[in-house]
Amino acid sequence: MQLSLTLIRPDDWHLHLRDDAALAAVLPDTARRFARAIVMPNLKPPVTTVALAAQYRDRILAALPAGLRFTPLMTLYLTDNTAAAEVDAAHASGFVHAFKLYPAGATTNSDAGVTDLKNCVAALARMEKLGVPLLVHGEVTDPAVDVFDREAVFIDTVLAPLLRDFPALKVVLEHITTQNGVDFVRDAATQVAATITAHHLLLNRNALFAGGIRPHHYCLPVLKRETHRRALLNAAISGNPKFFLGTDSAPHGQRTKESACGCAGCYTAHAGIELYAEAFDAAGALDRLEGFASFFGADFYGLPRNTDRITLRRVTVAVPDTLDYLPGDMLVPFRAGETLAWRME
Ligand code: DOR
Ligand code: ZN
Repeated sequence: MQLSLTLIRPDDWHLHLRDDAALAAVLPDTARRFARAIVMPNLKPPVTTVALAAQYRDRILAALPAGLRFTPLMTLYLTDNTAAAEVDAAHASGFVHAFKLYPAGATTNSDAGVTDLKNCVAALARMEKLGVPLLVHGEVTDPAVDVFDREAVFIDTVLAPLLRDFPALKVVLEHITTQNGVDFVRDAATQVAATITAHHLLLNRNALFAGGIRPHHYCLPVLKRETHRRALLNAAISGNPKFFLGTDSAPHGQRTKESACGCAGCYTAHAGIELYAEAFDAAGALDRLEGFASFFGADFYGLPRNTDRITLRRVTVAVPDTLDYLPGDMLVPFRAGETLAWRME
């Protein structure tokens, strides 16, 4: 049995850092593990311009504890009104690395999202021309569509037509949850990739109802059935560079999760690489973790690979019931009150 694993320092290609006190509470967990992260722009109000992204980036760097090196890779929130000139500005900025498409109403803070991609033709054409990636929350919002089918329907009715219209557009289908997502990305053009979360590799939808309703396992896209989890795991360990690590760690206070209408999001940053090691180990594929976690995302984004290393040891680690978050509101981490199988040195 392998007792330790050393790999080039990983990056997180999909992360929610929030802002202000929440940002300060969660940032150290990511910055200890990951060299860089693609930072989601779904703040209130959303990060829609390069100027707002610059300010948000400054707040992230100011919140970084002394001694930790970490580079936030900023994204802009695509809206019906995003101008092509904003794409030019993002491309020229050197610190904005992508635009994020939230279909309006699909998830947390997506109200300002896109109502119809027809409104974004000019921005999308410029992104395609300049090679600026579009990061996609791939779910339709039609309440008539079964919540477990929303990713598959999005692929058929939105993503496939989008790539027909913009065949060279760089796209990351974020946090894929289905065999449909795996198949689509695998068979699409080379500049189409996907991130996969640790929680979607480790859990199927039974985890939402294990012994009672489990709000801390509720995220969007929602967990799917076991066949889909296996498809994700096979994609992650396949060595295909189109699939790479994106935690989608998404903190929400305990009060807003444990509620009659709980928020979507799992907080996994406290074990951001350890949970992936567990999933890969269970599949007998620890040797595939480094490509998925440390190489393929950097290659996709055209950024240099990291050169320093981290070491994970096979040690049982207890996860606290709660972590400090906001005054009067705690954060319930993934695996709260349970254990992790790996520890990062
Ligand atoms: O579970 C989720 N939480 N999915 C998302 O798409 C957004 C995220 C959040 O911001 O909380
Ligand atoms: Zn997300």
